[in-house]
Amino acid sequence: MCGIVGYLGGGKAYGVLIGGLHRLEYRGYDSAGVALEGRGGKLKVYRSRGKVADLERLTEGKDTSGCLGIGHTRWATHGEPSERNAHPHVSQSGRLALVHNGTIENYRPLRETLRQCGYHFNSETDTEVLAQLVDYILERGGRSLPEAVKEALGQVEGAYAIAVMERGNPDLLVVARKSSPLVIGVGEGETFVASDATPIVGYTDRVLYLKDNEVAVIRRGKPLEVQTLDGGSRPSLDIQTLRLSVAQLEKGGFPTFMLKEIFEQPSTLTDCLRGRITSDGKRVVLSGVTDNRERFLRARRIVIVACGTSWHAALIGKRLIQQLGGLPVEVEYASEFRYGCPRIGEEDVVVAISQSGETADTLAAVQLARELGAFVYGICNVVGSSIPRSTHSGTYIHVGPEIGVASTKAFTGQVTVLALLALCLGQIRGTLAEEDVERVAKALLRLPETIEETLRLAPEVEQLSKTFTFAHNFLYLGRGYNYPTALEGALKLKEISYIHAEGYPAAEMKHGPIALIDHEMPSVIIAPNDSLHDKVLSNVQQVKARGGIVVAVINKGDEAIKSLADFVLEIPAVPECLTPIVASVPLQLLAYYIAVNKGRNVDRPRNLAKSVTVE
Ligand code: M6R
Repeated sequence: MCGIVGYLGGGKAYGVLIGGLHRLEYRGYDSAGVALEGRGGKLKVYRSRGKVADLERLTEGKDTSGCLGIGHTRWATHGEPSERNAHPHVSQSGRLALVHNGTIENYRPLRETLRQCGYHFNSETDTEVLAQLVDYILERGGRSLPEAVKEALGQVEGAYAIAVMERGNPDLLVVARKSSPLVIGVGEGETFVASDATPIVGYTDRVLYLKDNEVAVIRRGKPLEVQTLDGGSRPSLDIQTLRLSVAQLEKGGFPTFMLKEIFEQPSTLTDCLRGRITSDGKRVVLSGVTDNRERFLRARRIVIVACGTSWHAALIGKRLIQQLGGLPVEVEYASEFRYGCPRIGEEDVVVAISQSGETADTLAAVQLARELGAFVYGICNVVGSSIPRSTHSGTYIHVGPEIGVASTKAFTGQVTVLALLALCLGQIRGTLAEEDVERVAKALLRLPETIEETLRLAPEVEQLSKTFTFAHNFLYLGRGYNYPTALEGALKLKEISYIHAEGYPAAEMKHGPIALIDHEMPSVIIAPNDSLHDKVLSNVQQVKARGGIVVAVINKGDEAIKSLADFVLEIPAVPECLTPIVASVPLQLLAYYIAVNKGRNVDRPRNLAKSVTVE
C-alpha cells in the first residue's frame, strides 16, 4: 500500500518522481504528492487528492526545479483521502519532509507526547507523527538528520519504508525500512529510491534491496552508506543486477494492462515452465524442492498460506498436492493463520503464495511459521521481494510484472507452479507412477498453445458481456478442482465491475443460494468433462428449473450441457487437475468486458491496491 519514490542526482528530480509515481500508482491512488529542494534552501511541497495526473495538473506552471526530491502515492489507512492527509508531510518547524509506506502502530501515544511538547497536527495520519518526532529530535540540537531518523525509528512500532529530506540540505536523502519494501537504484552520480524496482528501470540496473531495520544515507558525491538501527553497518552492499525492461512495464498496444496481461498468458506460462520439465516431458525439475529433498520427505503435511487470488490458487494447490504429491494439505488465509494458535512444527512445510511477495498478512505468516520451526517455501512473482527473501526456498512464477490490480497471469502462473510442485513431490516421494507424471507434464508443456486457443473466445465473450452489463448479482458455481475457479471468477467480477458475485461449490447451491435464483440472476457454471461432470450437469438442471440464466464453461462437444445452458463458452480439454488454468481465462475475459461496458477503471478499481502491505 502506498508507493514512495526519491531521487538525488544531477538531473531534475520532478520528472523522475512523477514517472516513478505513475509506475507505483498500482500500490495506491487516492492522493499523491512531491517535495523538492527549492532555490534558496526552501522545501517546495505539492500535494493533491486523486491520482498522479491530478498532481501533475496542480504543478502546471509552478516551480518544479530541484535535484533532490521525494514523492508518494497513497492508499488511505489513517484518515480520508484528502490534500491534508496526503504525503509528503512537512514537520512543524518546516525543516524536513517525509514520505512513508506502512503503519506506525503506536502513533497515538507518540502524538500525545509530542502534543505535550507543543506540536500541532494538521492531518489524521500516523505518518505526520513520525515527521514531528524527527523534527523534535533535530530541534533539540546535537543530531544530524540520519541520527535523528534512527533515534525516532527506535521509538516506533509498526511497519515503515520512509524517505526524508531536510530543508537547506540538497545533498542528503535518508531512507529506512522495516517490514515494508524499499529498493535503492545506484546510478552514475545519481541515486533512486522506490517501493519497488519499477521506477528505477530505464535509469540503472544496479539495485540494492534494503533489509529490515536498515537506514541508508545517500549523500551527493559520496558512496552509499547502509547502517543498522542498532548502530552497525552492512559489511558489503550486495548490489544486484535488475532484470526488468521498460517494455515489460508498458501496455504494448492494449487499452489496459489487465487485457494485456490476460493475452500475455501463453508467453508467461512458457516462461513459467521454462527449464522445469525435462525435454522428453517425463520429469519435473524444481530445484527449490530437490535441493531440500530431506525436508520434503520428512514433511507430515503441507500448510499453504495466502490471500485473495493467491488463496484461490492455494485451494487448487491443495487438491493437486493431495492427489499427485500424496501429502495432506491445509489451506489458511494468511490473515487468520497467525491468530488461530497454529499447531506448526519442524515436520511441517509451509508454502506461502504471493504475487507481489509483499502482502503484509502473508509475510507475517511466513515469519511466524519460521519461528515455529517449519520449513517455509515461497511461490512468488516479484523477484527480490520480501517473502522470497524470508523463506527457506521457493519457486518464482516468472510471469513478469503484473500491473493491473486484478490478478490474472499471476493466478495461472501460481497454479502452474503448484502443479509442478505436486508432480515433483509425487516423484521424490514415489507416490506417482511415471506415466502419470508424464501425462500431466506433457499437458503442462502444451499449456501455452491451449491458452492461445482459449483466448480466441475473446470476441464471443465480449459479445456475451453486453447481456450482463446491468446485472446486479452473479453466482459462480464449480466442483472439485473448479470450486476455487468459481471463487476466482466471482472475485474478478466484483473487484473490477463492482457487481456483487458469489462463488460456491455447485452442490452447496441447494443448501441456500438456490433461493436467490430467478430470471435476473445469472449463474456461471464451470463444467468441464471431468470426474464430477454429471453432478454439475444436475446443478445446471436445478438452476434452469428455477428460471435462472446459465452461462456454462464446458469442453468442446459437450452437447448435454449445451442443450440446457443459455450460453456456453467452449474451452479445450486438458487433464482434470489442470482445468482451472484453462477455465479461468474466459472468466477473466467476462469480468473484464463487463467492467469495461460499465465504464470502470479496470486497472485501478476503486478502494483497491495491488500490493497490500498493511494488516
Ligand atoms: O500479492 P499477493 O498475491 O499476495 O496479493 C494477494 C491479494 O491481495 C490479491 O490476490 C488480490 O486479491 C487481487 N486484487 C486479486 O485480483
